[in-house]
Amino acid sequence: MRTVVGEHEARAAVGGARSAGRRVAFVPTMGNLHAGHIALVERARALAGYVVVSIFVNPLQFPVGEDFDAYPRTPEADGRVLEAAGVDLLWTPGARDLYPRGLEQTTRVEVPGLGEILCGAHRPGHFAGVATVVTILLSVVGPDLALFGEKDYQQLLVIRRLVEDLHLPVTVVPVPTVREPDGLAMSSRNGYLGVEDRGRAPALFRALQGAAGRLSRGEADPEAVEADGVAELSAAGLRPDYFSVRRAADLAAPGPADRDLVVLAAAWLGRARLIDNLRCQRPSPGGAD
Ligand code: PAJ
Repeated sequence: MRTVVGEHEARAAVGGARSAGRRVAFVPTMGNLHAGHIALVERARALAGYVVVSIFVNPLQFPVGEDFDAYPRTPEADGRVLEAAGVDLLWTPGARDLYPRGLEQTTRVEVPGLGEILCGAHRPGHFAGVATVVTILLSVVGPDLALFGEKDYQQLLVIRRLVEDLHLPVTVVPVPTVREPDGLAMSSRNGYLGVEDRGRAPALFRALQGAAGRLSRGEADPEAVEADGVAELSAAGLRPDYFSVRRAADLAAPGPADRDLVVLAAAWLGRARLIDNLRCQRPSPGGAD
C-alpha cells in the first residue's frame, strides 16, 4: 500500500493504475476504521483491480458546535488495517490541500430538498459539507466506482443525486450496514458511549425492526409507526431527533401506493448521536403477494 498526502501524488498514482488498465474503486472515509468501513474496502476489492481509500475528517460537514475536534483520529491503526485489507492507495489530504481558499470561501455543492430534511434539518449545512468534499474527492481520484454504506442512507441518496446532477462519470455502489452482534450499527461515534449507554444503544435497531415489521405486515400506517417509534426510543432512555417512515427511492413522505419504504431514526445517547435505518416492503393493498 502506498500512502500519499498531496493531490498531485494521488492523481499520479491513480493515473498510473489506470494506464495499466486497472479498474479503480474508491472508498472515502473519515478514518477511525471499523468493520463497516472494511466491508466497503472488501467490496471494492471484489469489483476493481485498484482500490483507493481516503481518510479526511471534513471540517465542512460538522456544523458549528458539533464534535469536529473530538472526532476520533487513529491514523496508525487505520494504516495497518487498510494495508491488511489489500488497499493499493491511501490518500490522507489535509484541509489546506482540499480547501486552499479556506472553508468560508470555497465553492459549495448543495443538494436541495434531499439534503435539507431529516439529518439535514437537525444538522444545518451538514450535507452541503458532505456533497462538497465528496465532489472534490471524486474529482481528484476519478474512480470508476465509489462505495458508500447504507448505514448513512440519506448520505447515500444525497451522493447519488449529486453524481447524477453534476454528470459525474462514476458508479455509486451501496454496501449493506455492518452491525455488532446485538444489532447496533457500527460507527466511529459508538466510542463515545459509556458502559450504561452502550447497553441502551441496541434499542435503536430494535425500534426500527419493530416498525419495519409492522409496516411489512400491513399492520399500521406510517404516522402511527413514527409516533410509537419516538415513544419506544424515549422509554429506552434515548433522546430521538426523529423517527421517520419515508419512500426508499427519494425520502419523500410515502403515499398509500408506495410500497418500498425505509424507516430512519436519529437519537442521542449522552454525547453520541446515533443514526440507523431499515428498508421494508409494504404489502400491496389487494394482498397480491
Ligand atoms: P465515515 O463515517 O468514516 O464513513 C465512511 C463510509 O463508511 C460511508 O460510506 C459510511 O456509510 C460507511 N459506513 C460507516 N459505518 C458503516 C457500517 N456500520 N456499515 C456499512 N458502512 C458503514 O461517511 C463519512 O465518513 C463521510 O461523510 C464521508 C462520506 C467520508 C465524507 O466526508
